[in-house]
Amino acid sequence: MHKIAVLPGDGIGAEIVPVALTVLDKISQMYGYSFQYTHALVGGAAIDETGVPLPEETLALCKASDAILLGAVGGPKWDHGPAHLRPEVGALLPLRKELQLFANVRPAVLFPALADASTLKREVIEGVDILTMRELTGGIYFGKKTREDIEYGQRAVDEMAYTTAEIERIARLAFQVARTRRNKVTSVDKANVLECSRLWRETVIRLHEAEYADVELEHIYVDNAAMQLILRPASFDVIVTGNMFGDILTDQASVLTGSIGMLPSASLGGDVGMYEPAHGSAPDIAGQNKANPIATILSVGMMLKYSFGYDEAAARVEEAVRTYLDRGYRTPDIMQPGMTLVTTEEAGSLICDILEEVTE
Ligand code: IPM
Ligand code: MG
Repeated sequence: MHKIAVLPGDGIGAEIVPVALTVLDKISQMYGYSFQYTHALVGGAAIDETGVPLPEETLALCKASDAILLGAVGGPKWDHGPAHLRPEVGALLPLRKELQLFANVRPAVLFPALADASTLKREVIEGVDILTMRELTGGIYFGKKTREDIEYGQRAVDEMAYTTAEIERIARLAFQVARTRRNKVTSVDKANVLECSRLWRETVIRLHEAEYADVELEHIYVDNAAMQLILRPASFDVIVTGNMFGDILTDQASVLTGSIGMLPSASLGGDVGMYEPAHGSAPDIAGQNKANPIATILSVGMMLKYSFGYDEAAARVEEAVRTYLDRGYRTPDIMQPGMTLVTTEEAGSLICDILEEVTE
C-alpha cells in the first residue's frame, strides 16, 4: 500500500490532478498495485480556508506519505501581501526545503506527433530528449532577502549562495543519470561573473575527474545555454544547473516539446518524492476544462518509476500518452489543423482507455 498525498492547489491544479489520479487508478487495477490517496490543502486554496499557504497538517501529511502529487499553486487573488504568505514562497519553497527535495528532474521530450506543434521548426527540434537536473533547495531562491529604505526609494537584496556539498550532490545525480542515457552532461553556470558559479564549475570538474571521467562533460554559460537550447536542442542530453537558471531554462525547454503543458517533473533527494507538472496554475484557463493534463499524467509516470520502482507501469503511461497523440487528440495548447480537439477530462479518459490496449 503506497500512501500518496494529493495536493491539487490552485487554478488548473484542481482539474488536472483528478484526471491524473484516474490514470493512477487504472494502473492500480491493471497491475494490482494499491494506492491510498489523502487530499490536503496547499497554496491559495489553503490561504482561503486556513489563512496560511502551507498548513501544518499538509506538511505533516506530506512527511508521512510515500509520494506527493501536486497540481499548482498561485493566482492573481493571492498576489499581494507579504511574500511568506503567498502561495509560491509560502508553500512551494518550504515544501521543497522541508522535504529536502534538492533535485528537480525535468525531462523535455519531443513526442514525434508534436514535431509541428512547436513554434520552432521541425528540423530543429526532432530528436529532442533533454533531462534537466535543477538544484532546488539552494541558490538565490533560499538566500537572505532584505529590503531597506535609502535616500532615494529602497534597496532590495537577494543573496545567492552555494556550498560545495550542495553542488556535489546534484552533479553526482546528473552524472549517474547520464550514464543511463547518452552519457553526456552539460553544466550551466555564469562562471565569468558569479562567484557561486565559479565554485559550481570547479566542483563539477573535480567530481567529474575523480568519479565520472567516462561521462562527456561540457560547461556553458547560461546566456549561451539559452541560445544553444533553441539552436541545437537535440544535442543536449543531461543539463545540470542551479535553482534559478534551471527555472528559466526548463520553461524554455518546454517550448521544444510543443507546450509547457507537456512538461512533468519529479523533485527528489529526501525520503518522499514530490511530483508536479512544471507549468503553473494557469488562472487564465482555469475552470474551463481545457488544460492539458499530460504534464501531470507524465508526472504520475515519474512517480511510478522513481518512488515505487514500477518501471514497466511508468513506461506504459508514457506509451499511452504517445499513442493518444499519434491518434490526433489535442487539448487547445497543442491543437493543430486536422486534429481532434478534446477537453481535459476527455484527454484523461482517452489515455486511460489506451492504457489498457498498449503494451510498452
Ligand atoms: C517552477 C515554478 C516555481 C519556481 C514558482 C511557482 C515558485 O516556476 O516550479 O518552475 O520558480 O520554482
Ligand atoms: Mg518555473
